[in-house]
Amino acid sequence: MESPLSMTTFYLDGRPLEALSSEPQPSDRAPSDTVPSNSASSEQASSPAHGGETLHRALLRLGVAHNYSCTKGVCRCCLVKLTTGVPTARAQKGLEDELKADGWVFGCQSVIKPGMRFETTDDGFCEAVLVARRSLSPEVYELVFAIPPALMESSAGEPKVRSPEADAAKPVFAPLSPFIAGQCVSLLGGEGFGRTYGIADVSFPAADTRYHISLHVRRKRNGSFSQWLCDALEIGAPLKLSRPWGRSHYLPDFQNDELIFVAFGSGIGPAAAVVREALNCGHQKPISLYHADRYPSDLYQHKALLKLMLEKRQFFYQGLIAAETERERIDHHRVQLADVETQLKARHTLGRGSRLFLFGDADKVAQITEYAFLNALEMDRIHAQSFEYRDLRRRPRR
Ligand code: FES
Repeated sequence: MESPLSMTTFYLDGRPLEALSSEPQPSDRAPSDTVPSNSASSEQASSPAHGGETLHRALLRLGVAHNYSCTKGVCRCCLVKLTTGVPTARAQKGLEDELKADGWVFGCQSVIKPGMRFETTDDGFCEAVLVARRSLSPEVYELVFAIPPALMESSAGEPKVRSPEADAAKPVFAPLSPFIAGQCVSLLGGEGFGRTYGIADVSFPAADTRYHISLHVRRKRNGSFSQWLCDALEIGAPLKLSRPWGRSHYLPDFQNDELIFVAFGSGIGPAAAVVREALNCGHQKPISLYHADRYPSDLYQHKALLKLMLEKRQFFYQGLIAAETERERIDHHRVQLADVETQLKARHTLGRGSRLFLFGDADKVAQITEYAFLNALEMDRIHAQSFEYRDLRRRPRR
């Protein structure tokens, strides 16, 4: 049976629970795709924390502004530091050892215990500036953020140079150093909410002294965070960008593996970037890339990927659509009306010697992950990147 804890059960940034609940909260919070009610009633705000309640749930109930998105311990928007108390395994599940040792925990997974002290901190975030935005398709935009060059130094202090085939002007970095195409970063917009995206490009343009990080953002209908990014955020505006993370980028250790990439929707941004990185690093084993979406017009990198396939003999690309209405309009060759699983069954034998990279829609990524696992592909050979956003609207998104 749940037992109520005392009123002062935990501290955030040195303030006890009851002080947090009585503080006025900012009204100009950032737009979000999943805007929760942040106005807890006075009854809610004065009620004690309950046994088993997470930090996120407690703050939400108290009406305290905080960063979060998926609430599943995936997107990292809610990371805080636990400075007093012992974190549960779940509160740190999936975090790198370095972050665990530093006390980082997921606020959405951290069950609060009496006396725990949490700190929100800007450690792990940098200020990024939006320097460009362009439309890639009717619904997808590329957003380019500039970050200071100091954040791009490798562990040795200097960027490493690519393979001889690669663009010498564009360095690659040690695996654990910041910002590699295919890794994830979280964007925080002002007070409160954030979203996590895969990195679709990293460049160091001659005309700027800063590095540029590109993200592909699908502008969702009724999605206020993505609409804010795609429509309202002004060029030159700063926002917070998290340190990069994830295991969906290319590593030289993969050079003897067949690489299979599946991208759903705007997941093609990071997926194609990792393909290019592998090719630039001289990967010789076969690389296949499937881009699945609804309509042919959604395959917004189609021409560029066909061109790449012509240039690189080890690279295969296939567009896949789902809309029956387009049956008469496609060539049924490079664009097929087919699902991913059918393609994987027909063209690939999964197992030792292959790696599967999945990007995009959480449900579809989970479905293909299950298929691959049941077909004997070890989980450490499945590199899945997807973010499920919990919809906290009173009216569900249609
Ligand atoms: S990881 Fe906690 S909100 Fe996403």
